Order: sequence, then structure tokens, then C-alpha cells
Amino acid sequence: MPDPIPSPPSYPVVGHALTGVIDPVTPTLSYRLLREKYGRIYELNFYGRPLIVVSSQKLVNELCDETRFHKNVSGALEEVRHGAGDGLFTAYHGEESWGIAHRILMPAFGPQQTLGMFNDMLDINSQLLFKWERFGPDHPIDPTDDFTRLAFDTVSLCAMSYRVNSFYQEELPAFVRAMGGFLVESGRRAQTPHMMQGFMHKSNTQYEADIKLMVDLCDKIIAQRKAHPEGAKNDLLNRMLEGKDPKTGRGLSDANIRNQLITFLIAGHETTSGLLSFTCYHLLANPSTYTKIQAEIDEVLGNDPIQLSHLPKLVYTNAVLRESIRLNAPLGMLNVTPNEDTIIGGRWEIKKDTRCVVEINGLQRDPEVWGDDAEEFRPERMLDGKFEALPPNSWKPFGNGARACIGRPFAWQEATMMMATMLQRFDLRFDDPSYHLHLKQTLTTKPKDFKMHAIPRRGARPIVGPGSLAGPQTTSPETAEKHDARPAEVPVGTGIPMYVYFGSNTGSCESFAQNVVSDALAHGFRAVIATLDSIDELAKVHYDGPMIILTASYEGQPADNAAHFVEGLQRLAPEKRPLTNLKYAVFGAGNRDWAMTYQRIPTLIDSKMEQLGAERLMERGRADAGGADFFGEFDKWEKNLWETLNKVYTPSTIEQPTEVPEEEEEFVVTVTGTARQIRLRQPDLRDSKVLENRLLTKPGAPEKRHIQFQLPEGMEYAAGDYLAILPKNPDVSVRRVLKHFNLQPDTKIEIKTKASTTLPTDEPIRLHDLFSEYVELAQPVTQRVLDQLLQFAPKDNVRLRDLLTDTKTAVFDKRLSALDLIEMYPDINIPPTKFVKLLPSMRIRQYSISSSPVAKPGECSLTVSIVRAPSLGGHGEFVGVASNYLAHLEVGDTVCVAVRPSAAKFHLPADTTKPIVMFCAGSGFAPMRGFIEDRAEQLAVGREVGKTLLFVGCRAPDEDLLYKDKELKKWQESGAVDVRPAFSRASDASYGCKYTQDRVWNDRADVKALYREGARFYTCGMSGMSNACREKCVDMIMEEMNCTQDAASQKFQDIAGERYSIDVFG
Ligand SMILES: Cc1cc2nc3c(=O)[nH]c(=O)nc-3n(C[C@H](O)[C@H](O)[C@H](O)COP(=O)(O)OP(=O)(O)OC[C@H]3O[C@@H](n4cnc5c(N)ncnc54)[C@H](O)[C@@H]3O)c2cc1C
Ligand code: HEM
Ligand SMILES: Cc1cc2nc3c(=O)[nH]c(=O)nc-3n(C[C@H](O)[C@H](O)[C@H](O)COP(=O)(O)O)c2cc1C
Repeated sequence: MPDPIPSPPSYPVVGHALTGVIDPVTPTLSYRLLREKYGRIYELNFYGRPLIVVSSQKLVNELCDETRFHKNVSGALEEVRHGAGDGLFTAYHGEESWGIAHRILMPAFGPQQTLGMFNDMLDINSQLLFKWERFGPDHPIDPTDDFTRLAFDTVSLCAMSYRVNSFYQEELPAFVRAMGGFLVESGRRAQTPHMMQGFMHKSNTQYEADIKLMVDLCDKIIAQRKAHPEGAKNDLLNRMLEGKDPKTGRGLSDANIRNQLITFLIAGHETTSGLLSFTCYHLLANPSTYTKIQAEIDEVLGNDPIQLSHLPKLVYTNAVLRESIRLNAPLGMLNVTPNEDTIIGGRWEIKKDTRCVVEINGLQRDPEVWGDDAEEFRPERMLDGKFEALPPNSWKPFGNGARACIGRPFAWQEATMMMATMLQRFDLRFDDPSYHLHLKQTLTTKPKDFKMHAIPRRGARPIVGPGSLAGPQTTSPETAEKHDARPAEVPVGTGIPMYVYFGSNTGSCESFAQNVVSDALAHGFRAVIATLDSIDELAKVHYDGPMIILTASYEGQPADNAAHFVEGLQRLAPEKRPLTNLKYAVFGAGNRDWAMTYQRIPTLIDSKMEQLGAERLMERGRADAGGADFFGEFDKWEKNLWETLNKVYTPSTIEQPTEVPEEEEEFVVTVTGTARQIRLRQPDLRDSKVLENRLLTKPGAPEKRHIQFQLPEGMEYAAGDYLAILPKNPDVSVRRVLKHFNLQPDTKIEIKTKASTTLPTDEPIRLHDLFSEYVELAQPVTQRVLDQLLQFAPKDNVRLRDLLTDTKTAVFDKRLSALDLIEMYPDINIPPTKFVKLLPSMRIRQYSISSSPVAKPGECSLTVSIVRAPSLGGHGEFVGVASNYLAHLEVGDTVCVAVRPSAAKFHLPADTTKPIVMFCAGSGFAPMRGFIEDRAEQLAVGREVGKTLLFVGCRAPDEDLLYKDKELKKWQESGAVDVRPAFSRASDASYGCKYTQDRVWNDRADVKALYREGARFYTCGMSGMSNACREKCVDMIMEEMNCTQDAASQKFQDIAGERYSIDVFG
């Protein structure tokens, strides 16, 4: 008796059609979630027609057996027949014209023939490079759009010698637009029941018009060629017109030739564009791979025009393309059906003619083939014979057997040429360094909203016109000179130039950098601010002023917008001392909780710059974000910085303005927008809707809430990731400022300043909105801000004595903010315009996502601890900005959010049968909830899931054991989790254990047993709990190995490297 194939719940009659199980906009995401939940085979049903989706190599291997299965033209592919008829791509299995065309065309796409298309490919390729060169480094490029033009023009030129000339038009040419519209509509029609299609008059009319335009143009080209065959190139069109099928002796009809032309354009443009766009994304997201591929291209091509002989030497480039298309196959589905009733995997029956789908993206991430790091981009797995040694049918981006892609050598050559010429000439950079991959889907998949910059490389031979790459040396010395000498931003104005660069994910280093820039003018410097990755080439940095670097570390790695800089720095050879004469200073923000990698990146940059010959101006500054005086540490360093710079740069050259010029400083207030996230330099944030906001704790216990969000379209996450939130200040704080300055909330002001600022300039804004949305009102004051506040108080004022004599006790220990101070000391008579300038920009806050995407696709939840406590300053209540903002959200409100991936290790193991052990307390339960939910969903549909053990600390069972009555109870009963609580105020109910670490020790036999079974460990919460759990693990090792503490600690470090991940909140 065969096993039933797992299937999600469905409705009668329509089956899964209206259940929302497949997201109509991005089905790829739904297939990923279904695969995670139901495993690598499951069944869907649309209006009574079953569809079996398969993604394990072992099962796919059976579906690729052409003696048992064949291609099935159905769904969107069948709709595409309206335009492409019996062309190769859409021909039915067994259709006679397919065999004839296949036999005539196969030789035309052979490797030799493809090599013959080199010049035509290069022609279009150089049009694209030329465009990028003209637009220059500051222009944000939409690579998907440009690569679509490239691929379309290339296929068209190579197939039928027709120039679409899409690089010479702002709008896409009519032919390309018609094809785009046709493909989108074909996809939509596949999702609409047949009887409904007749009612869609408007889209049907457009559909027919698009098809007519494509058909007419191809027919015209064929007619012209037939009328004037003389002198025509031996392109694909010629081969089709003249070729005879060796088997039947028949040629192709005109209608079939037209269908093939349309087919090549359809099959060849979006796919190649997707491959190139995804590859650019992966290279930018993986700087070390970027470095390697560029090094290979430099070695193979040097500064020469690309030639055919270069292509086979680009071995690493080939591996990069293979790896990119493994993770993101542009065509994600292969439709097949069995010739007869059959059994696959020895247990699942599939009836004849049942629609089956090979889910390529799932297949190409099967951990049984690709290992635990299947989700990572690692081209090395394609090198040194490893690709060739893969189990059969593990890598299928080009389809299967007789119906596999005929254009594969064509596309591969085109893509390799593009990568080589592009990276030879340009350095690529993200437009938004925090960009994470989102998908856009039509018939194919491409990156969504991905933008980059192409910065001409130093010394690269410029492209002077179409076709010039392969042609004779046409370099114009002026152009070459212009690029070599092109200055990056040089600060304008008076004073010594100064270059302030930051590497920052969550904004602290950026706001420190902003502080330095704001203060520069008063010290006689004219400063510019930019990300570290904006330095396109280290050798080109400016020497006419100091270079100041402020940067963070993340798991020992650079921040998103510093990765390329760090990579480049490490590549430079110290022997040549290329940075001689450059003067620099580094400041690092870090967190000691990451003990092994504390300040790793600032330290690395600081020492590397010195080795490369640069002159260190002062000792590296460092601040611990988890320590008590994070901002104060920065202030001290900044003070030192100005003293040092004053000594190094002769005062005579410093135009030290005794008074800051009015126009630079003045915030002109007139009673009279760019999106907030852009101003605050968080461009990836998007609006998300609140779906639920519920209290999780009993009154009296520290408040924790569950907040559910509808994610913006295409925003994906995995359990364990974070959600960044851009909050607003609580109304109570805004009212305090307005009251203090006697301002009306609705008064509109316009801020004008020449200094760099994240405040909204040059557009009117309500005072209420300014104080609510753009500045931090509760952040503890630093020495620098305190000094500036005191400038507005009368000297020798007795009422301010405390502030001056015992600052630590009076201000810092109480964590007073600037707002607290002006309220407490009315003698500080600062005007509101100056006050605004003192306030730090509003920062994003990160929260661990507490749900699994498998449970509710398109949604996610947070578990938030609300920060509200008697103020340490003794005046009322301290109200945390983001947690209270979240606490007060109502259903339907919108919030600015972005998913930020957590460290690769802080995710569930790909193998669901591996046990996991989790240590947490308070809202540190958040990511654990996501992990448990993921596993509960898998268990519920009959998957085999490893033991899931949770140690959780809280006060008492009835007060704050989060999710106790609903989810946790259900999950415990189903066996999805085994909960081991520790109650600090009811330890009798937890075997005398008060804290998480006590319970871990109490239950250590279970922990050890799971360790032996290969368990992965996760810790989340405050650093005290995390450290204590780590100590207990070391104690367990000592007990087990009977060794010293040092030996046990060493052993723990070894284990931690692979199997123990920590996420600390503060
Ligand atoms: C990777 C990561 C994941 C996280 N995940 C979660 C999560 O899942 N759930 C969660 O709840 N949090 C989480 N956090 C913490 C979260 O990001 C915020 O830091 C937290 O919610 C506080 O933010 P806030 O804006 O409310 O407080 P803020 O306005 O930022 O205030 C916090 C500051 O207020 C000061 N302060 C605190 N109490 C007082 C007082 N009584 N008097 C005076 N000053 C005081 C503190 O010194 C601190 O500097 C996470 C943090 C990180 C880094
Ligand atoms: C990276 C680029 C490309 C990818 C990923 C790709 C992928 C695929 C896949 C997966 C199939 C099989 C579809 C199925 O089984 O339903 C296919 C078929 C096909 N492709 Fe490609 N393709 C690419 C480029 C091209 C190009 C450039 C051309 C033409 C110039 C082309 C022409 C075709 C044709 C004609 C078929 C149908 C073959 C047949 O069934 O006989 N493809 N392609
Ligand atoms: C997930 C994560 C990993 C971190 N890893 C490190 C680390 O390895 N070393 C370190 O010194 N600090 C580490 N930190 C602390 C940050 O570097 C610190 O919070 C810094 O202030 C962030 O600066 P930014 O706001 O400019 O991005 C980490 C923080 C987080 C949230």
C-alpha cells in the first residue's frame, strides 16, 4: 500500500486554489515554506487537478528518468503557447514539429556555433558598458533592467540579425514591452479559472495586441530575409530557413520559424538577465568571492580586450555563475508527468498524467547533496572536480534530457563575457549596503529593488563606443586621464579637508561620524561623511586631510557597508607601503559580549592601515555598547581627536572661526518630503501593517507583548532573523519638549543648513513630527552634549554646581537625557534651534523575530519587553522609545521595518532530525519561539523532527511564562518542545532552580545526552544569563572529561565554533 503524499489543508472543489497557500505574486517563496513544512514531496490540488511538488535529489533523479516521465506543457507554459505556439519551449510532448525543429536547431546552438556569435555578443555587451561609463559612478543602476536589455538585444541580433537598440531608448522598445506584457498576462491567466478569462475584456484585448505586435514583427523579418537572402549572415534565422531535418528531410514552416524566433526571445532574455543580476547580488554580498573573481579576471584579461581564448581560462568565474544559478535558478520549475502509473521513492504512487513539478530551488539546496551550508554562497563547491562528482540531477537550472535548454552554451558564454568585461572595467557597489535579496517573479525570478553602482576602475581602458572592446586600441588619453584623476567627493568650503568614513549597521557609528562632521567646522575643518564602502579604491583616498574611520564589528565581520573596504584593505601588499603620507584615526564600537571578536574590525583596520604606511594620528578609540558609558567613551575620544588634529595641522592653516558663520549654523525657522527612512539613512525600511498586539504577562509582572506584522511584499525571513524597527518617540516625551520651549505641536518649521544632517531640510515639517520622528529624546547625555548645554547657562551659577563638580553621580549614573537636564535646570537657557542640533538622530532598534515563516507566510511576530521603569534620575518614569512605540501600536497601524538576517549559525540546522537545546530568559524567548514554531509545523504534518529542549527563565508560572496557555501548551503536548522553566520567584515549581543556568545544571544529564546526539545550542537574552549558561556548559565539560577549567574552556570554544550560538540583547 503506497504512503499518502503530505498535503496542506484545502477547500472542497477549489482545492488549494483560494487558500492562499501559493502566493500569486512570489510563488517561489511559498514553495520554499511548503518545502520546509511538508518536506521534499507534497501534493497540491487546484480545482480537482493534483500537482505533486518534488525537491529532493533522490526523488528528482527518478522524475528525470525519461523512460518514466516526460515534459508536461501546462499552467503558464501552456498559456505562453498563445504567442509561441509549437516553438521548442512550449511544444507538447510528442508533437511532430518539436522533433523536426530540435534536430535542425541543435547543431545551430552547438559550442562551435556559439563561439561564432562572440562578436555580436560583444557588440551589445559594450553598449551596456558604455552606458554605465557615461552615467558615471554616482548613478544607481538597475542591473535587472539593463541585463534584460542586454539579453534581449543579444538574442535578437544573434538569432535574426535584428537590432532592437534598447540601450538607445529611455523607454523599453515596443517589442520588449509587448513581450513583457504578454508573459505577465500568461502567468496571470494560468491562475485564473478558464470560465473567468472570457470576462477580462480589457486584459484580453491587450494580450492579443501584444501577441500581434510580436508576430507581425517576426513575420516581417522573415519576409524581408526571404526577399533579400543575398549577403545575409548565417544566423539562426538562415539556418531555420535553409535547414532540413536529417530524419524526415523536411524543413520548417514559416509559422514554425516565427514561433521559434519568439521562443528564443522569451526563453533567452529574462533568464540570462536573472542569472547576471543574481550573480552581481551574490558577489556584492560576499566580498571575498568578489575579490577572487576580479583577481582571476585581472589575471586572465589584464587590460586587454576580451577574446575567445580567455573564456576557458575563467575557471573561478564559471564556478561563481554555477553557484549563483544554484541558489537562484531563474526558471524555478520543471513540469513533468509519468508515462504510466508509477511509484517513486519506493512509497509514493503517482498516477499517469498527474502533473509533477521539480522545484529547482529546493533541489539545489538539498542538504543531503549540498551539506549543512546549502543556503550559503560558496563557489568553491563547484571547483576541483566537485561539480562533476555531484550525484546525478542535483543541479538542474537548464532543465532535463531532450527538453533541456537548447540555449545553455549561448547563455553561458554571454554571461561569462559580461562578468569578465564588467569586472575588468568597473568596481561594483551596492546602492544600499543593507540591501538583502528580495524576489520578483513573472515566468522567471529576478532580484527585486536591487540597485548598484558601477565605478570605473583605475587604469581600466575606457569603452569609447559600441563594439570597441574587441576592436583596435581606441583609448582616448583624455578620457583615461579623466578617470584616473577623477576626484571623489572633496569637501567644499573653508578649512582643512577632512574625510569621515563609517561602517555601521544599526546606526551608532554613523551617528558618531555625524557628530564629528558637525563639530568639524568649529575646529577649522571642512568634513565630508560617507560609508567605508564608498571608497571605491583605497589607492585613491585623499591625502590632503585626515581620514577618520568609525566602525563596528558583527560576529567578527565588518558592517554591511564596510565589507568591501575591509576586503580591499587586506588585499593591499604592505611591502609597497601604498598608504604612506595618509594620516588617519580609528574609532571602534563593539560589545564585550562577543568576547572572541570584540573590536575585531576596528583593530584590524587600525593595524592594517599602519602596516600599509599610513600614519596613525592617535590611539584607536573604543567603546563597549554593552557597557555603562558607550556614548561617553566616544565623547572622550572625540575630544582627544580635536586636540590631536589641532597639534598636527598647524593652527595657522586652520581657519578657526571664533563664531560659526550665520549661514552655516542658522536653523531658519519659517512658518510654512523625502521619506523619513531615507533621511535617517535606512533606505531598506518599508511599511508593514500591525495585525495583532496582545499582552503576554499578568499585571504587575514586567510587561511583554506579542506583536504580529504583515510583512511588505517580497520581504522574506528565516526563524532566528531580526526585524529592524524605526520607532517614534512617545507622545509624553514630545509634549515635554514642546511645553518646555512653549511651542505649538502644529507649528511648521523649515530647517536650512549647509552642514550634513539627518534632519528634514528644505521642506516644512510640524514641530511635533520633528521631535517625534527624527531625534532621540531619551538617550543619556554625554560629556560633550553636557558641555554644550552648559554654554547656555550663566557662569558660576550655584544651582548648576552639582553638574560641574560631581558629574558622574549627578548626570551619568542617573542616565539623564538633554531633555531631563533642561527641565531640571531651567538656568540652562538653550534656544530650541540649538537644542535640536544637540540631539542624536533617531536610531533603528532590532528585535529577534519570534515566529516561523512556515506557520503564517507573509507575517512575522515580535516578543517585546516594554522598557518602563522609575527614572534613575528620580523624575517620573523612564519610557524606552521603541518598546513603548511598539506597545502602543493598534491593529492596522503601519510601521517602518526591514528584515535583517542573523548570523548564519543562529538558524535551525537544515537537517530537521538534529536535536536542539535552547537557553533563554525574558524576551530572549523570542527567537526560540520561532524555532519551536518551525519544528511544530513540521511535526504536525508528520515530518521527523529532532528533540527540542527549551530552558527558559522568568518570574513565576502565572506571571510571565510567555505563551504558556496557548502555544507553549499545544507545542508541549504535541512533542514539539520539552520546556524546562526556572522561576525566580517560585523556584519550588522548578525543582528549586531560580535562574535558567540553575535549571541547565539541574538537568545536565539531558543536555549532555543531546550533545552526544549532535545537538545544536542557542542562547538568547541578557549577557548575564548568557555568560552564566556558558559557565555551566564549561562545568559540564569539566565534570565529563575530568579536566581543568582551562582545558574545559578550550574544549567549549571548539564546540562553540560549530554548534553553540549566542544572541545577546544588552
Ligand atoms: C540583536 C538584538 C535583538 C533583540 N531582540 C529583542 C527582542 O526580541 N525583544 C526585546 O524586547 N528586545 C530585544 N532587543 C532589545 C531592543 O532592541 C531594544 O534595545 C529594547 O527594546 C530597548 O529599546 P527602547 O527603544 O525601548 O529603549 P531605549 O529608548 O533605547 O532605552 C534604553 C536605554 O535606556 C536607558 N534606561 C533604561 N532604564 C532606565 C531608567 N530607569 N532610567 C533612565 N534610563 C534608563 C538604558 O540605559 C538604555 O540605554 C534586541 C536587541 C538586539 C541588539
Ligand atoms: C541563464 C539562462 C537560461 C536559463 C536558466 C534557461 C533555462 C531553461 C530551462 C530550465 C529550460 C527547460 C524548460 C522546461 O523544461 O520547461 C529551458 C528550455 C529552453 N531554453 Fe533556456 N534558459 C536560458 C537561456 C536560454 C537562451 C539564451 C535561449 C535561446 C537563445 C534558450 C532557449 C531555450 C529553448 C528553445 C528551450 C526549449 C528546449 C526544448 O524543449 O526543446 N534558453 N531553458
Ligand atoms: C549580531 C551582533 C553581532 C555582534 N558582533 C560583535 C563582534 O563580533 N565584536 C564586537 O566587538 N561587537 C559586536 N557586536 C556589537 C556591535 O558592534 C555594537 O553594538 C556596535 O555599537 C554596533 O554599531 P552600529 O550601530 O554602528 O552598527 C555585535 C552586535 C550584534 C547585534
